[in-house]
Amino acid sequence: MNSGADIENAPAALTLVGCGRMGGALLQIWLEAFAQTRFHVIEPAGLPAAFQNNKNVTHAAGATAQIRGSDIIVLAVKPQIMASACAALKPHLDVTTLVLSIAAGQSLENFSKMLGAEQPVIRAMPNTPAAIGKGMTVAVAGKNVTAAGRKTAHALLMQTGAVHWAEDESLLDAVTALSGSGPAYVFYLIEVLASAGAKAGLEPGMAMALARQTVIGAAALAEQAPQTQAATLRENVTSPGGTTAAALEILMNGELEDLFARALAAAKKRGAALNS
Ligand SMILES: NC(=O)c1ccc[n+]([C@@H]2O[C@H](COP(=O)([O-])OP(=O)(O)OC[C@H]3O[C@@H](n4cnc5c(N)ncnc54)[C@H](OP(=O)(O)O)[C@@H]3O)[C@@H](O)[C@H]2O)c1
Repeated sequence: MNSGADIENAPAALTLVGCGRMGGALLQIWLEAFAQTRFHVIEPAGLPAAFQNNKNVTHAAGATAQIRGSDIIVLAVKPQIMASACAALKPHLDVTTLVLSIAAGQSLENFSKMLGAEQPVIRAMPNTPAAIGKGMTVAVAGKNVTAAGRKTAHALLMQTGAVHWAEDESLLDAVTALSGSGPAYVFYLIEVLASAGAKAGLEPGMAMALARQTVIGAAALAEQAPQTQAATLRENVTSPGGTTAAALEILMNGELEDLFARALAAAKKRGAALNS
């Protein structure tokens, strides 16, 4: 995952605001990837025990002048407290310092209001597998972001999985509906498969174990063949007239496609409402 370019573009100093589930997972990944980077963590609840003896990590309960030395500020607080976190940062923030937000539903326009119109801000939408380096992040750069700033953010985000840059911020509602919320759809697929397996006669615990490992195995196969279309992977395991074909004849009658289209449309609509 880590390339020479990522190390070259890594920041010398990074401030992380919020070290909860997502912030903590990111810090763990970045500490492993970038041995030369100094990390300053702002977290009122204290520095999590896992980082307390790390010589590359300093901590403060609130924003202080110490953030001035950072090349990038990463915002990983809940969207609801973003306004107060930004208000506390602003007096100490250099107007050219890059800010990277991973908060859902906080638009670039909101950041422009909270931090000032000059501040370079990147808005990223990761998903939960980012915590284990298997995420899908879509990022949008605000108008003040330099090419070097974009490379720094890319180097950081690449450590959490795949990264796609979008030019149009309005796409983020659809992104949230697909990759942001997507892991939950796959977990639900496991539940549905297990329940169908139990109806087909398997003991429920065994059905769940089979469903879970099947999704893990299929995802790993897809990961190993990034150039192969999903349809080809499916066809590779479907013999004409066989058992898989019999099941797919029912699954591919259009109902599932319609159901997912409706589900993503509902998630997108909800995301747009939360953003407004
Ligand atoms: N979790 C995910 O899967 C996921 C995925 C994509 C994006 N995100 C985004 O990531 C962000 C963080 O989510 P999370 O699940 O990691 O939330 P979380 O576990 O609640 O972490 C947020 C942390 O920020 C701390 N905090 C509160 N006020 C602060 C302040 N003024 N300055 C600095 N830190 C402060 C909180 O401390 P207290 O607990 O003491 O309040 C908490 O430890 C959210 O904006 C979310 O939209 C999360």
